Amino acid sequence: MIRGQGFGHAKIILIGEHGVVYGHPALAAGLTAGVQAEAVAGSGRLRVPAWSLDARPGDGSPVGRALAAILERLQVDDLDFHLETGIPSRAGLGSSAAMAVAIARAAGAASGRAHPETALRAAVDDAEKVFHGTPSGIDAAAAFGGNVGRFRRGEGWRPVPVLQGMQICVGLTGRPRDTGAQVAAVGRLRERAPIVGQMMDLFGDLCDAGERALAIGDVDGLGRLLDVAHGLLCGLRVSSPEIETLVHGARAAGAIGAKLTGAGGGGAVIALAPGHEQDVVERWRRDGFAGFITAVGPALPEAGHHHLHAAGGES
Ligand code: MEV
Repeated sequence: MIRGQGFGHAKIILIGEHGVVYGHPALAAGLTAGVQAEAVAGSGRLRVPAWSLDARPGDGSPVGRALAAILERLQVDDLDFHLETGIPSRAGLGSSAAMAVAIARAAGAASGRAHPETALRAAVDDAEKVFHGTPSGIDAAAAFGGNVGRFRRGEGWRPVPVLQGMQICVGLTGRPRDTGAQVAAVGRLRERAPIVGQMMDLFGDLCDAGERALAIGDVDGLGRLLDVAHGLLCGLRVSSPEIETLVHGARAAGAIGAKLTGAGGGGAVIALAPGHEQDVVERWRRDGFAGFITAVGPALPEAGHHHLHAAGGES
C-alpha cells in the first residue's frame, strides 16, 4: 500500500515582515504546530476537514491550482491527500506554506522516488506563488525549518541560536488577511514616500538587535524591539482596529512587547509576556478574540496550541 507522511510548520515572524520583501533580513520561528499530511494512492484529491476544504487539481480554486503546481513539479499524479491541522488558515501564521510543505513531503515520501530537497522546495515555491503572487519565501523557509531562523531573500534560512526558550502569546483578529493586498499597499506607499525606504532599513537593524537579544537571553530587550517593530508597521499602515485592540490588551495584561505578525490588515498578533501569558490570553478572550500560547527556542515544552480558545471568528 502506497503511503507517505509529511509535516509543515506554521510560523510567526518575530521581526521584519514587509522589509523582507525588499531584501532586508527577518527573524521568524517555525512552530511545533502546523499541518500534517498523509498521502495514499488516489487521483489528486485533497481534503482538509479543519478548513472545510476539498480540492482537486484543475478545479480552478487557489488550493486546487497550488496542489496542481506541486504535483506537476514532483511528477506525481496518483495520490490523494488528507491533512490534519490545529492552526487556522489565512490568519498570518503561514498556513498555506505549512500546507504546501506537508503535501510536498508526503508526496515525495509516497512516490517512492528520491526527490531532492531542492525539488520539494521548488514545488512549495510554485504553490506559494499561486497564493501570494511574489512572496519573499520566508513562510516556506520557516515551514521547512522549524525553530528560530533568520531569513533573507537570496540567502535563505539560517538557524539562530536562542539561549533561553520563551513562551509567546498568539492572538487572532478573526479577520482573514490578504498578504498580496498588504504587500501591494506597502509597495505603493514606498513609491510615494521615500521615508519608507529608511523604515525598511530600520527593520534590518531591529533584526540584528533581535538576533543578539535571543543569543544572550535578553527577553526584556526583545520585548522593546517587538514594540518598535510594531510602531514601524503602523507607520506602513498595515495595522487594523482589531490588531490594535489585541496589542493594547496584551500590554495592559502584562506583555513587555507586542506586535502584529505576518502581513497585517488582520491576521495575528504576538506578545511576549513572561509570567503573564495566561493573563494575556484571558484578556484577549474577554475582548472577544481567540488566542493561544506557543513556545520558541530550547527547553520549553509547547504550551498547547491545541488550547485554541474558541472565541472570535476563526477563519
Ligand atoms: C508574510 O508572512 C510576510 C510578508 O513579509 C510577505 C512576504 O514576506 O512574502 C508580509
